[in-house]
Amino acid sequence: VSLKDTYKNDFLIGAAISWQQVAGKDPVATKLVPRQFNTVTPENMMKAEELTSSWGTYDFSRADKFIDYAKMNHLRVNGHTLVWHSQMPAYARHIQDADSFRTFFTGHIRKVAGRYRRKVRSWDVVNEALNEDGSLRKSPFFNKLGDNYIVDAFKLANKVSPNTELYYNDYNNEQPKKRAGCIALIKKIQQAGARIDGVGIQGHWHVGKVPFGDIEESILQYAALGIKVAITELDIEVLPRNFTGAELSRRMKTDAGSNPYVNSLPDTVQKQLADDYGQLFKIFLKHKEKISRVTFWGVHDGQSWLNNWPIPGRTNYPLLFDRNGNPKPAFYSVIAMK
Ligand code: XIL
Repeated sequence: VSLKDTYKNDFLIGAAISWQQVAGKDPVATKLVPRQFNTVTPENMMKAEELTSSWGTYDFSRADKFIDYAKMNHLRVNGHTLVWHSQMPAYARHIQDADSFRTFFTGHIRKVAGRYRRKVRSWDVVNEALNEDGSLRKSPFFNKLGDNYIVDAFKLANKVSPNTELYYNDYNNEQPKKRAGCIALIKKIQQAGARIDGVGIQGHWHVGKVPFGDIEESILQYAALGIKVAITELDIEVLPRNFTGAELSRRMKTDAGSNPYVNSLPDTVQKQLADDYGQLFKIFLKHKEKISRVTFWGVHDGQSWLNNWPIPGRTNYPLLFDRNGNPKPAFYSVIAMK
């Protein structure tokens, strides 16, 4: 039984995959990816930092191999991501004057989106541009280009890749304040005459605290703008992550207390995780006409980024497949929703 077959008439089912996995060095993923999913997102391979390490120099070898892997395995591709303040190459972060920064910005979108125009079905054009209160993040893009840079990015992406779906992607944008900012941003893009096809709700949630009501309300409000909703980076972690500042640095040094499930996940948490995933897919199914895709941020627990973020060296259990690739109770609960 597979996720992609179970949901074939509803929405695409995807996973973010790593270079390791593309290179065939993760045997668990090698088996699972083509069997369970019909779309993939490159976890890091298409981020600016990975593509260009010095001004004017691009290395597309890994990104191209990712595209080949997707084609070979009949997987659609979601590109991630053209404009993001994080994982930028150092040289770009250090550009001082606005004109040079604009040259980098437009050059990057043209080069990357142009290269993959026939190979990428959708792009996360802009990622994480909003603060929690819904205002625009004071990123290098905002600081150097002003508040119109998002509209510019969508216009340019449309120009160089007219047949690719264009998404705005963020986390916590199911939360009312950030959602209001996100809706205002989408309206601004639309009113500027630029094409935007959808919004990505990343979906990094926490077991027992998944905001189901806000999620459902967000699907409705976003769809009312005439765009699709995708869940782009779904995982439900079982470890606390709301550490900031001094608390975070203290825990990063050594904190066994933040890694309580080193050997296994207790049955109670396992069951809560399964219930949360089931409830989520129930909502997704109820609104399936509004949802284009549900992508998990990783293939199996063993390689999830949440083992290393925000604290390295933890043992997390956020996905549907365990470290051996076996389906967890959460997998069966997602299947059972159909
Ligand atoms: C994460 C990757 O999973 C990690 O491997 C990397 O070290 C940091 O970035 N939101 C996003 C993703 O849009 O690109 C992030 O991916 C997770 C949070």
